[in-house]
Amino acid sequence: MAEPKKLYIKTYGCQMNVYDSERMVEAMGGQGYETVETPDDADMILLNTCHIREKAAEKVYSELGRFKHLKAENPELKIGVAGCVAQAEGEEIIRRQPLVDIVVGPQSYHRLPEMEAKARGGERALDTDFPEEDKFEKLKARPRAQRGPTAFLTVQEGCDKFCAFCVVPYTRGAEVSRPVDRVLQEARDLVDRGVREITLLGQNVNAYHGEGAGGAWSLARLIWALNDVDGLERIRFTTSHPNDMTDDLIAAHGECEKLMPYLHLPVQSGSDKILKRMNRSHDRDSYLRLIERIRAARPDILISGDFIVGFPEETEQDFRDTMDLIEQVKYGQAFSFKYSTRPGTPAAERAQVDADEASDRLQRLQALITKQQREIQDSMVGKTVNVLFEKEGRLPGQMVGKSDYLHAVHVTGDGILRGDVRPVTIVQSGPNSLAGRLTQG
Ligand code: SAH
Ligand code: SF4
Ligand code: F3S
Repeated sequence: MAEPKKLYIKTYGCQMNVYDSERMVEAMGGQGYETVETPDDADMILLNTCHIREKAAEKVYSELGRFKHLKAENPELKIGVAGCVAQAEGEEIIRRQPLVDIVVGPQSYHRLPEMEAKARGGERALDTDFPEEDKFEKLKARPRAQRGPTAFLTVQEGCDKFCAFCVVPYTRGAEVSRPVDRVLQEARDLVDRGVREITLLGQNVNAYHGEGAGGAWSLARLIWALNDVDGLERIRFTTSHPNDMTDDLIAAHGECEKLMPYLHLPVQSGSDKILKRMNRSHDRDSYLRLIERIRAARPDILISGDFIVGFPEETEQDFRDTMDLIEQVKYGQAFSFKYSTRPGTPAAERAQVDADEASDRLQRLQALITKQQREIQDSMVGKTVNVLFEKEGRLPGQMVGKSDYLHAVHVTGDGILRGDVRPVTIVQSGPNSLAGRLTQG
């Protein structure tokens, strides 16, 4: 048998890119590639990129520059750029970086093997189409290797919401849902290979409306079907949009046994003026009322969010409205960003907030979030939570896993295996994780 070729893949950005990278690795596996941990003696380097903020996009060019000597040493090395920068700046990458052989957008991954062959033939290959065929179906020939206890599964992709700051509707395209039977089949296949927890992915995952028996299924209906998959222990989903939090999904949080008490529900700002200018189509009040309804269904749910500070025309008062909203909601987790101008999006044309002012606001916001996160994490001490164990810890006999609320938990104890879900009594709360012991009896 021929020596396997070596593929080095580096993934930036969101969980969907992580999922896509796995799919690309599998597609290239069919071409005789195996992944390696460093780019040093790779036959192919693939950067799966993110375009969400300026810094994320710039990283790609600096990373590519660093591969120059590798290509000098090995002219057979092929370098590819995938992901959202590829989609947004495909032609420019080709122009700006002669090292690059392949540029492939997120909707064309299934064509990667052909593109690699073309590159081997000495041509440069660019594909940023939004083709008609179903890339997921084309990517189905997967090696049935065992895998870790947690997995992502893309069920919906793209976005039609066009928030004024965001590139996603341009890089991922219009919203599409995968059919129910294919999702369920993929889920069963993952469970057969050792997966115990599945996180359903979509840029607007709760807008899911895949074709199923009797017509389009909601995300809640899909989750209920997954709840019946034997061997699957936990279901999560991300990212949701406040406007698509339907009654059946809220109810599922109270009733569906395997659906975890954690919800990532970005609000971006707490100021009605800014939310309007962001084209978010929900306001402060509707978001707060929604959180109330979700907590009525599942009182212990951990709420996570995303925030942008320094959006064009954001005043100190607008920012305070955001801080006030955070005070009311109490977040267990949050991601916060300084607004980053994205060429081609509506907000890019508007009056920008002073950079120092924005940095100052970000610091204040992050201090508040850190405090809330810590309080919620500390409140776990003394409680018993279920933990799904994922890997060994650094200390002898120690295992690390995640609680239902997605807190990292360290436990030292005999006979804990990867993939086990066990009740754990939390004894200590550290800076980034909890410590516990197996609950007796
Ligand atoms: N589909 C998801 C996430 C989109 S991107 C949603 O609707 O929430 C993830 C996060 O990046 C966003 O929630 C937002 O907080 C942030 N983000 C997107 N565009 C940005 C920009 N131009 N500048 C700063 N942050 C941005
Ligand atoms: Fe971007 Fe808004 Fe769509 Fe989320 S909902 S992906 S922030 S445009
Ligand atoms: Fe980034 Fe594209 Fe995800 S821009 S956040 S990799 S959808």
